[in-house]
Amino acid sequence: MNQKHTVIVTGGNGFIGTNLVQLLLESRQYHVINLDALTYAANPLSLEDLEGHPDYEFVKGSITDRQLIDSLFEKHKPMGVLNLAAESHVDRSILSADDFVQTNVVGTYTMLEAARMYWNTLPDELKQQFRFLHVSTDEVFGSLGEDGFFTEETPYKPQNPYSASKAASDHFVRAFHHTYGFPTIITNCSNNYGPYQFPEKMIPLMILNALSGKPLPVYGDGSNVRDWIYVEDHCKAVKLAFEKGKPGEVYAVGASNEQKNVNLVNQICSILDNIAPPIEVPQLRDRGLKSYAELINFVQDRLGHDHRYAIDASKVQRELGWKPEVGFETGLRKTVEWYLSNPKWVDQASGGSYGEWIEKNYAWRTKKEAE
Ligand code: NAD
Ligand code: DAU
Repeated sequence: MNQKHTVIVTGGNGFIGTNLVQLLLESRQYHVINLDALTYAANPLSLEDLEGHPDYEFVKGSITDRQLIDSLFEKHKPMGVLNLAAESHVDRSILSADDFVQTNVVGTYTMLEAARMYWNTLPDELKQQFRFLHVSTDEVFGSLGEDGFFTEETPYKPQNPYSASKAASDHFVRAFHHTYGFPTIITNCSNNYGPYQFPEKMIPLMILNALSGKPLPVYGDGSNVRDWIYVEDHCKAVKLAFEKGKPGEVYAVGASNEQKNVNLVNQICSILDNIAPPIEVPQLRDRGLKSYAELINFVQDRLGHDHRYAIDASKVQRELGWKPEVGFETGLRKTVEWYLSNPKWVDQASGGSYGEWIEKNYAWRTKKEAE
């Protein structure tokens, strides 16, 4: 068997990171060093099955910690970095962007600089092989009207503090390629859904609120559009871009699956009505609910809420041979079933600091638009 490649994955305990680490290990091509600070968004249960795996090592630490990162390069001599660690929730960034600037901007810069210094020491052959793949978002392009798509050529126009911090990180990555010839690749992906997503994000939030009979808070009039991709399809695109992407290139990734928020919430409700009807859920039995859709509640809009995102993914399809494999109906059903089948994971994610935080910070979410 060929020798395995050692890679550093940052943010491997988060939603996309967990799915990506699993994919890399399943491929048997990689030895994975997962650097994660274990913030509120990480769930220790997500990767607990990997304990003792010969090709997996977990390092608790921050991508802002230069000394630690230098020591990881020195010790493990990786052939690349897949940088996912980030603060990722738009609503939190609107309340305060401090952590977003620290992790997304300073952290990405710190990873880049440490990686570049290490890369400089490599002999030519290894230098050629090395890649720094930065996982980014379509939100850096701003918001679309009713028509059109984001492509790799779309000018940057971030409109909320989260996307501004991701745009800043992308610019550092691009500048490192342009200035130093450092071999970077960026993927800008649309909204992911699937197993292991932290319950503050829209899809798991709606599933879990519904099952406990809480209101389903749809922001504004629910007409905002997101372009949804099953997380495993995104991870396959990231792996391909890492292995076959050209240094300096950017790939927009999406599954051509636009959904209006209110329609999506209705789809979640009808899946739940089918597989866990309210009448069969002990804590809901006496509520007289016929459908979870009765819990939909239109609340005050998100500040600066981007109207529509949509990706033209023809470049990654054409140049890397990627295509999405999981249809939305199947993916959404699998996702709902995953949350129903993993109560221990859900309890761990929903309790503790998240529970307290949501009580303190989300009063506006119960207010009607007109209030
Ligand atoms: P997430 O919030 O679920 O996970 C983030 C992970 O990063 C957590 O494990 C957290 O502990 C870790 N982390 C945070 N700060 C850190 C630090 N300073 N040092 C080390 N680790 C730290 O996020 P996600 O949804 O999995 O997103 C992963 C990446 O993909 C992010 O860069 C995000 O911007 C990008 N992205 C996400 C989506 C999406 O729909 N979720 C879409 C496109 C791009
Ligand atoms: O587009 C990629 C981005 O997608 C990623 O870069 C981000 O990390 C990721 O969080 C996601 O951002 P969004 O803001 O689009 O995702 P979120 O799940 O927070 O919201 C999806 C849509 O649903 C958005 O239009 C806001 C709306 N929403 C969200 C929540 C949490 C609601 O109507 N009610 C809610 O309670």
